[in-house]
Amino acid sequence: MADTRFKLNTGAEIPALGLGTWQSDPGEVKRAVSYAFSIGYKHIDAAYCYANEDEVGDGLKEAFDGGVKREDIFVTTKLWCTYHSRVEEALDKSLKSLGLDYVDLYLVHWPIAMNPNGNHEKFPKLPDGSRDLVKDWSHIQTWKSMEKLLATGKVKAIGVANYSVKYLEELLPQATVIPAVNQIENHPSLPQQEIVDFCKSKGIHITAYSPLGSSGSPMFTAEPVVEVAKKRNATPASVLLSYHIARGSSVLAKSVNPERIKANRDLITLDDSDMKTLTDYSNELEKSGKLMRYVYPAFGVQLGFPDKP
Ligand SMILES: NC(=O)c1ccc[n+]([C@@H]2O[C@H](COP(=O)([O-])OP(=O)(O)OC[C@H]3O[C@@H](n4cnc5c(N)ncnc54)[C@H](OP(=O)(O)O)[C@@H]3O)[C@@H](O)[C@H]2O)c1
Repeated sequence: MADTRFKLNTGAEIPALGLGTWQSDPGEVKRAVSYAFSIGYKHIDAAYCYANEDEVGDGLKEAFDGGVKREDIFVTTKLWCTYHSRVEEALDKSLKSLGLDYVDLYLVHWPIAMNPNGNHEKFPKLPDGSRDLVKDWSHIQTWKSMEKLLATGKVKAIGVANYSVKYLEELLPQATVIPAVNQIENHPSLPQQEIVDFCKSKGIHITAYSPLGSSGSPMFTAEPVVEVAKKRNATPASVLLSYHIARGSSVLAKSVNPERIKANRDLITLDDSDMKTLTDYSNELEKSGKLMRYVYPAFGVQLGFPDKP
């Protein structure tokens, strides 16, 4: 199961399980990356904003020195919000840090631009404490620059992250290249079925992030997850990661702990009754207005997600 792959609209394949690197601290992430590749991971998710691409690059180097071939792995990184008007410059920075000539996938991290000349390189704020956004910059302009990257050979595919249906409906009529991927927060407490279905209908692959509920993995104790795990003699982590593969999505699990990195490869095929248990739970939360967002609020900008003020 861990070696499942999904086809992108570019014809390339994305390995179903990727190692996440957000909040992987310096001093930990090099070892995590190199260990993950040594035990068979083929996919890693990075981002300029995570401020650890240098060390992710060190981990990649160690993996290559250990015999991993560049063409056998899938590397994603992302364009940060303060770089929407400097797309190729941002990509070059990331490539340099990662020690790579190309990435397999480059994503627009969020569909909004922040002031490139503000009071902070990554998270500029206005004097009133709110985010310093470039309100007259359209994410379509950003996408046009993303499209140009394909001719440089420095990206094999381009995509988006944190795009709701509203943003995709704005983008697609203007796009020459359909995004290969939409990377979104996704778990049984936030199934995002509307976005998943919309992307499927447009040939956009979904990659699920924060599948364990992010820091502290709060999804582990959700009752239906525990129930399916008991029934299948599996761990909650395995159920939560396998859930996405059953939905046709790839999934990113972050860990810097070798045992957990290894354990997260123990994926299982969830059957219809397992998926019904998890889907019923999602529907229940949706009906009662109790869907849980772990990352979106942390971002600190009201994006109208999912499509609501
Ligand atoms: N596009 C975006 O805007 C966006 C946003 C958020 C995340 N992401 C990507 O998605 C990745 C995954 O999401 P995430 O980092 O938010 O959270 P996550 O993978 O859902 O959860 C990570 C947390 O779970 C723990 N953990 C991992 N495996 C475990 C296991 N088997 N048993 C117990 N605990 C375990 C980790 O701790 P240890 O490290 O100590 O094991 C960490 O505290 C990110 O790292 C990032 O690459 C993208």
